Order: sequence, then structure tokens, then C-alpha cells
Amino acid sequence: MTAKKNVDLLVGAQWGDEGKGKVVDMLGSDVDVFVRFQGGANAGHTVIADGQKVVFHLLPSGMLYTGKLCILGNGLVLDPEQFLNETNELFSRGQDRARLAVSPHAHVVMPYHKMLDKLQEEARGKGRKIGTTGRGIGPCYVDKYSRSGLRVEDLINPDVLRERLTYILEEKNQIFTRLYNHNPLAFDEIYEPAKKWGEALAPYVDDTRALLRKAADEGKHILLEGAQAALLDIDHGTYPYVTSSSTSAAGAFTGTGLAPHDLTRVIAVVKAYTTRVGEGPFPTEDFGADGEKLRANGGEFGATTGRPRRCGWLDVPALKYSMELNGADVIALTKLDVLTGMGDIKVCTAYELDGKRITAWPTDTRTLSEIKPVYEMLPGWNDDITNCKTFEELPANAQSYVKYIEQTLNVPVALIGVGADRNQTINRGM
Ligand code: GDP
Ligand code: IMO
Ligand code: MG
Repeated sequence: MTAKKNVDLLVGAQWGDEGKGKVVDMLGSDVDVFVRFQGGANAGHTVIADGQKVVFHLLPSGMLYTGKLCILGNGLVLDPEQFLNETNELFSRGQDRARLAVSPHAHVVMPYHKMLDKLQEEARGKGRKIGTTGRGIGPCYVDKYSRSGLRVEDLINPDVLRERLTYILEEKNQIFTRLYNHNPLAFDEIYEPAKKWGEALAPYVDDTRALLRKAADEGKHILLEGAQAALLDIDHGTYPYVTSSSTSAAGAFTGTGLAPHDLTRVIAVVKAYTTRVGEGPFPTEDFGADGEKLRANGGEFGATTGRPRRCGWLDVPALKYSMELNGADVIALTKLDVLTGMGDIKVCTAYELDGKRITAWPTDTRTLSEIKPVYEMLPGWNDDITNCKTFEELPANAQSYVKYIEQTLNVPVALIGVGADRNQTINRGM
């Protein structure tokens, strides 16, 4: 007999930066195991606790809690330099290193992946570029699927590393010299630092799938922390303006080795408005004063690249799609406070294309870039809500906005963010 499962999966519902880091941290006191399962250091998850701000790129946002297990799963692409920087920074604050485990099957982001990411973006040029974070994510996943990748287990074995890197670099150098007119990479300049990264990583490497299996069967509370978000999903997002991993709920299984029946709940993190970093369609983007105001009030600048985020209004068809895709059980609604003082609040309920009304999220990217949003206006509020502790303390119009979202999406809003701090959260039954 195994114990009752207690596995939560938290995913972004829009184009990222919904405030996943804050929600993970806020739920964290009750969690035993924190897990990242896809993406890599392209993520930027901000946690503000007791006045101190930490941005996690690769490590789970639960790392600030002591005595909890933190796992980097097999689905991740792991940049060893970033990993070591991030861990050193945390350990210098006194965090417990024994509690971090890395899958031997995670793929390693190598320097040539980051170089290729930049060269490919330059080659795509204006109008075609994706606006990646430059963290080597796409090229590393390409190598994974073309079976030319290096896994953590290869990095920590100098002989295997030498053998595989020899073959891989021959291929990469053909690409660098012939396609990009770039100098070839010298073997030792890649191998020597990689060997050192392997030595530093080795103590963390463990069978993360087995650790998770045991934890799940014992009824431990596991929180799987998605990075990016549904509309950036490699299959279901606004392709090609997406990231290279499965960012929606399904990715959690391939990315950890847990099974679908292990899951007890999917928490979708929804920002009270919409933002996007990088290129690609964004039907409710506001190019005027409201967009500027949302950016200023919400501090909407990338946590990884510092780029200003594109800002706009809530998009109901996009969110309905995202709720379906993720099988969302509950919503954590973030940044409601940012809408304070915005006047009437626009909510996109449908789109128009060539005089026709469309109510579902279009499936092709070309259509997505041509549709025009149809807005409904909801009454706003001016009272500061950043100190509200209960739903009832919120102004009536803020309560109505929350109710509108849960009724329209047919998913309960169980958590409401009214500020960036861990404590600025209203719990409505999470
Ligand atoms: P993530 O990538 O989904 O973890 O989100 P980011 O950390 O990239 O961006 C969210 C930003 O909003 C961060 O600066 C958070 O500190 C901040 N934030 C999160 N929740 C709230 C909230 O409820 N209100 C306000 N004002 N800020 C929030
Ligand atoms: P978190 O986890 C927002 C975007 C990039 C670009 C596209 C592809 O903080 O929500 P990539 O470097 O992944 O190949 O870039 O995806 N992107 C994100 N946007 N939040 C993120 O992460 C993102 N990670 C990638 O801006 O448009
Ligand atoms: Mg972010």
C-alpha cells in the first residue's frame, strides 16, 4: 500500500512571468520536494521574502527553504556555469547543499549552444528572429533530439566526455566554419572547463526519478515548478515564437519520470493582465498609455534579460485554451494590485478577422497575428489593495474582476497576489 499522493504541478498560463516563482515560494512552507522539469536558465523566477529578492534561473524557487529536497529533473537543459553560480550564491547565504539532486539524464547546455543561439538569431534577422533569451536553450534541445547531446552523466565522466565531445565538436565546427563563417572551437578550450564543471556537479547527481517515485509513494508533498508557460509550448504555443520545451502540464511527466496518475492537482498561474517578452503574436498588446502604465506599475522588465515586457489586457480565449491544455484545477491569480488605478479594465472576450467574430483561440500563428481583440469593459478600482489579507477586504470591483475570471474560465481562483512579497497573498482555499 502506498500513501495518498500529494503532487502539485504549477504551470504558467500565458507567455511567462506570471509570478510562478512567488507562488512556489508562497506555497513552499508546506512542500517537501521542489522540482524543475523543463527549460533551463531562460527562466527568471523572482522570490521576495523578508525583504530580500532572489531570482532563480535554473534552481527551483523553493531553494530558500532549508531542509527541503530540490530536484533538477531529466527534462531540464542544465547550464553548468549557471548552476554553479546560482548554487555558490545560495550556499554563501548558508543554504544546505546536501538537499539538491540533479538528474544524470538532464542535457548539458554547452558554450557552443549559447553561441549558436546568438548566431541563429542574428541570421534570422529582423522580422524573423524569435527574441530568445540567448541561453542556448533551442540548440541544446535540438542536440537532445538529434541524439548529439551531452547529458550530465557524460559530463561527470572525463573519458566519456572526451570521446563524445570529440565527435560532437567535429560536427559543430563544420556548422561554425561553413555556415556562420566563424572560427572553429578548439577541443581543449571546451573540454577542460567542461571537465571541471563535471567534477563540481558530480556530488549532486542522483537518480531523481527514483527519489521522486519514493517521495510520491510516501505521500510527500511534491511541487513541480513549470518554467515559461502554455503559450510558449513547443507544440501548443505560438510556434515558431515559442521556447523549445513542453511547458504545459504534460511536460512534467516526461521531464521527471513521474506518471500521470501521480498528479493530484494542477495550479495554473494567471497574471491579472498579459505580458510577453520576445517576438510573436500578442492580440491584446496595448501600445498606448495603458500598456506603459501596466509596465511601470507592474515592474514589467525581464528577470533574465532585463528587456521591457510587452504589456496588454487579459485574453479570455487564450486563457480558456490554456486551462484546457493544462487541465487546470485551480488558478493562482497574480498582480491584481497592478490594475489598481487603471480606470476601466479591458478584457478580451473574442476576436475579429475580416468582419467575422472568432471566439476560440486560433490554432494558426498567421491568424493570431491578424486578429483584432473585442473587448468588454469591467469597472476598475482605486483603493490600494496591497495590504488586503482576505477576499472580503478587496474593493467590490476587484472582487467582481476575480469572480468574472473564475466564472468565465470555470476554474476557481484559489490564490490572489496583491504584491510581490511572499505575504502579499490572499489564500481562498489553495
Ligand atoms: P515568473 O517567471 O512566473 O516566476 O515571474 P517573474 O518573477 O519573471 O515576474 C513576476 C514579477 O512580478 C516579479 O518581479 C515578482 O516579484 C512580481 N510579482 C509576483 N506576484 C506579484 C503580485 O501579486 N503583485 C505584484 N505587484 N508583483 C508580483
Ligand atoms: P519564465 O519561466 C517569458 C521567451 C523568450 C522568447 C522565447 C524563446 O520566467 O516565465 P528561449 O530562450 O527559451 O529559446 O526563448 O521564449 N521566454 C520567456 N518569456 N518568461 C520566460 O520564463 C521565458 N523563457 C523564454 O523571450 O520569446
Ligand atoms: Mg520570469
